[in-house]
Amino acid sequence: MLEVRAATVAFGSKRGASPKLALRAVSLKLPTEPSITAIVGESGSGKTTLTRLMLGLLAPTSGTVWYGGHDLGQLDRVAFLRYRREVQAIFQDPYSVYNPFYKVDRSLLLPLMRFGVARSRDEAYARVRQCLEAVGLRPADTLGRYPHQLSGGQRQRVMIARALSLQPRMIVADEPVSMVDASLRATILESLYRLKTERDVSLVYVTHDLTTAYQIADRIVVMFNGEIVEEGEPDQVIHAPRHPYTRSLVAAVPPADPGIDWGLDAEVTALSR
Ligand SMILES: Nc1ncnc2c1ncn2[C@@H]1O[C@H](COP(=O)(O)OP(=O)(O)OP(=O)(O)O)[C@@H](O)[C@H]1O
Ligand SMILES: [Mg+2]
Repeated sequence: MLEVRAATVAFGSKRGASPKLALRAVSLKLPTEPSITAIVGESGSGKTTLTRLMLGLLAPTSGTVWYGGHDLGQLDRVAFLRYRREVQAIFQDPYSVYNPFYKVDRSLLLPLMRFGVARSRDEAYARVRQCLEAVGLRPADTLGRYPHQLSGGQRQRVMIARALSLQPRMIVADEPVSMVDASLRATILESLYRLKTERDVSLVYVTHDLTTAYQIADRIVVMFNGEIVEEGEPDQVIHAPRHPYTRSLVAAVPPADPGIDWGLDAEVTALSR
């Protein structure tokens, strides 16, 4: 469905210096069936840049991005609008996407009207309520409020409800839970996981956290210095990492729960203690 082909992204730099390559000929094909793909990698490795390509927020310097068999750069208006509805984004800081002067209702209703998903205000509200409930929020506690009157976790879930209300086929979430506490993290990841199993929505999940990637993903993609250095099923990536960077990433996971068998060899386990 979504595919990045040999995409390079170079950011301009000051005169004289060579441009910064945020991505170096990255190719990634997401599975067509509903799936969760985790993208992990250290800060600055290119994860956000890759998701911005997938979301059409950035065009590659060279290479292409394909959706539904078409080059994103070549989509006509109707196809592009459809892509915009079908591929939704969830960002790290849910506060940054709200307009503080409007109640959250507006952020939830506008996209439904804009994409023509709901034909009336009542229909839009009904759908919004249903989506809020789907992410574990009570509509009565959420609607009619301003963004600052919600907790960070509530705001993040309102974002997910908003994405969900457009009946997307894919959600691209860049560090969706890094700003919320551990207990809420599990709840939000659970909501995202259920979107795949119950609504056939695919998820691209960008994270620093190898543990949650392992728990919810069908595939893990490891990035390092603008390149994909490893890609595979979680068991394969975690238990038999091939790239040295992946090995160091696995070794850096704190052994929080002694009950979890990470399958690491004794040497690596000893290193991480
Ligand atoms: N708009 C920009 N202009 C110049 N350089 C940029 C820009 N955006 C990103 N970069 C650079 O590109 C590289 C990749 O950045 P990116 O944001 O994709 O990393 P990341 O993996 O998402 O990191 P983090 O985990 O910290 O979010 C970094 O070196 C960054 O400094
Ligand atoms: Mg980032």
